[in-house]
Amino acid sequence: MRIFKTDKEDLQEAAENIRAGRLVAFATETVYGLGADATNDHAVASIYEAKGRPSFNPLIIHVPSLAKAKEYVTFNDVAERLAASFWPGALTLVLPRVENCPVSRLASAGLETLAIRVPGHKLALEFLHACDRPLAAPSANPSGGISPTKAQHVIDGLEGKIAGVLDGGPCPVGVESTVVGFSEAGKPVLLRPGGITREALESAVGPVLTHDADGTTPSPGMLLSHYAPNATVRLNATTKEPGEAYLAFGRDYDTIADVNLSVNGDLTEATALLFSALHFLDEMKFERIAVGPIPEIGLGVAINDRLRRAAAPKENKEAVGT
Ligand code: TXA
Ligand code: MG
Repeated sequence: MRIFKTDKEDLQEAAENIRAGRLVAFATETVYGLGADATNDHAVASIYEAKGRPSFNPLIIHVPSLAKAKEYVTFNDVAERLAASFWPGALTLVLPRVENCPVSRLASAGLETLAIRVPGHKLALEFLHACDRPLAAPSANPSGGISPTKAQHVIDGLEGKIAGVLDGGPCPVGVESTVVGFSEAGKPVLLRPGGITREALESAVGPVLTHDADGTTPSPGMLLSHYAPNATVRLNATTKEPGEAYLAFGRDYDTIADVNLSVNGDLTEATALLFSALHFLDEMKFERIAVGPIPEIGLGVAINDRLRRAAAPKENKEAVGT
């Protein structure tokens, strides 16, 4: 596959590939996305094929501005305020498709709603402008695997299956966007924890409802085994057993750490390193990974969500996605 750099010629060439219906992965602030022209059924179908993703699992649509988003979905008041507060950035809003919305039905898996966001990464925004199309983009990894936060992760997972990757260096946030939908009464509902914390959402719009992951979740991508390394994962480990790699957070278990997500206990730093660390431990061929305790506050909620899925039994992986 081609590795497109950040210069104008490469950016244009990558955009031409998109307009020709091919797949190009690109850097965003959260994780690398596997981009396709969202208005092209065939291109969207090839995303599902390249990832091996169940086609009932809908994709996020990326646009360069709120004004563009309004061409595809209808905003309510709370959604307007969330977009004003957090776009461009790691927040995805699930909103009703406008009438005659040109986005492929396949991208929203037949639903009447569409998940949409304006990414907060300079290169991603330039790319969206150059493409001049909305881009459907799930994380650029084989379905069920660890999300990519470097161009090399994309190459390792999808070599031979896509036209190229637009290399913007390591992703600064490191976990996927927070997905927010709306109840029938128009109240915001947290569908997937991610790069924007619940605390930040609530300081902008007040209480946000929780959708507990009990298997009836309305966000179809939130099925159990996911983000999974080849190794088995043991959570809340305060010891390291023989043969295990130990993934630590903070100083408490640093003496037994093979990788420490943040010696200083900084959740932002830990989030940025999480998927890279899992990729690295897989490359080192560890069969088992023990993960130390991580506080369930702020970005720790998104980290623990991903780690619980990484630790889930893989027989659930069939039903999974993204
Ligand atoms: O940060 C991100 O969000 C990355 C980057 C590339 O932007 N993208 C990403 O996409 O994580 P993906 O496809 O891996 O995750 C999409 C999530 C899934 O949980 C999916 O179920 C949910 O969004 N989703 C998409 N459309 C939906 C809809 N209409 N209703 C409810 N949930 C939806
Ligand atoms: Mg994903």
